[in-house]
Amino acid sequence: MPLTYLPIMAKNKITIVGAGNVGATTAFIAATKQLGEIVLIDIVEGLAEGKALDIAEAAPVELYNAHITGTRDWEKTANSDIVIITSGLARKPGMSRDDLLAKNVQIVKSVSEQVKKYSPDSTVIVVCNPLDAMVYTAAKVTGFAKNKIMGMAGALDSARFNYFLASELNVSVQDIQGVLMGGHGDDMVPLPRFTTVSGIPIGDLLEQDKIDKLIDRARNGGIEIVNLMGTSAFYAPAAGAVKMAQAIIQDKKTVLSCCAYCDSEYNAGGYFVGVPAILGAHGIEKIIELDLNKNETTQFEKSLGHVKELALKVDGLLS
Ligand code: LAC
Repeated sequence: MPLTYLPIMAKNKITIVGAGNVGATTAFIAATKQLGEIVLIDIVEGLAEGKALDIAEAAPVELYNAHITGTRDWEKTANSDIVIITSGLARKPGMSRDDLLAKNVQIVKSVSEQVKKYSPDSTVIVVCNPLDAMVYTAAKVTGFAKNKIMGMAGALDSARFNYFLASELNVSVQDIQGVLMGGHGDDMVPLPRFTTVSGIPIGDLLEQDKIDKLIDRARNGGIEIVNLMGTSAFYAPAAGAVKMAQAIIQDKKTVLSCCAYCDSEYNAGGYFVGVPAILGAHGIEKIIELDLNKNETTQFEKSLGHVKELALKVDGLLS
C-alpha cells in the first residue's frame, strides 16, 4: 500500500454539468486535486458514467482518492456545494461565441431549473458561452444570491495573457500577474498597466508594440484554438473553473477576474461582467474597483455595452 496518498481535505460535493471536453477535464482536474465528492452529469446515456469511471480508474496510477460518480439522474446531484455548468454547444471555426446564444440559453435554462431544485444552496460557476450572457441566464432562472453565481472567463483569459507574456519574456508563468476585465469576447480588456512580473510593471520590460501584440493574441486566444483543432479549448478553461471552485471550497480569498454581478461597481448597472474580485467561501466576496484611466474606461464601457446587448437578447429568449 503506497504511503503517498494525500488526505481528503473536505467533504464538499461538486456537480459538473456536461461531460464533454470541458466538463470531463474539469472533473479530472478537480479529482486529482481531491476537492471533494464529484458528480458528473450529462444527458447522453453512458457518457458521464464512462468518463467518471475512467477518471476513477486513473486514481490508482496518479494516487488521488477519487470520489466521482457519473450519472444522468439529477437526484444524484442533490445538495451540491458547487455546481459548474459546462453544458452547451461549443464553437466551430467561423463561429463567434455569440452565435451560440439561442441554443445555449435553452440548455442553461433547463440546467439552472434543476440546479435550483436539487441544490438550492449551491454556488454556481458557469463556463459555457457566450459566457456573460449564460451567467445572466443562470442568475435569472435560479434567482440565487448574486455573490453565489459567477462565470469563469477571466481566469482563462488572464492565463492566456500570462502564458504569452511568460513565453515572450522567458520567465516563469508563476511570476506573471496579469489583470484583465470586461466581457469574455473580442472586446475583453487586458490591463497591462496593472500587470506585473514579480511586481515589475510589464511596461518596464517590454516595448508597447510587443505588449499590444500579446494583448491581441490573448483577445483572440479562443478562436486561435478553434481554428487549430476545429472546436473550443478545454484544458485551460477547465483549469480556470477548478481554480475558482478551489478558491471557494478552501476559502482561499483568491484575487482573480471573474464574471461577477456589478451594480454601482464600475457603473455597470446590474449586469454580470468580468472584473477583478476576491473569491472565497461566500463566493464573490468583494469586487475590486481599479482606478481605470480614460482609455481603459472607454474600453470597459464598450465591452459592457456588448454584454448588456446580449443580456437583452436573453431576456427576449426567456420571456
Ligand atoms: C475560449 C472559449 C472556451 O475562450 O470561450 O477558449
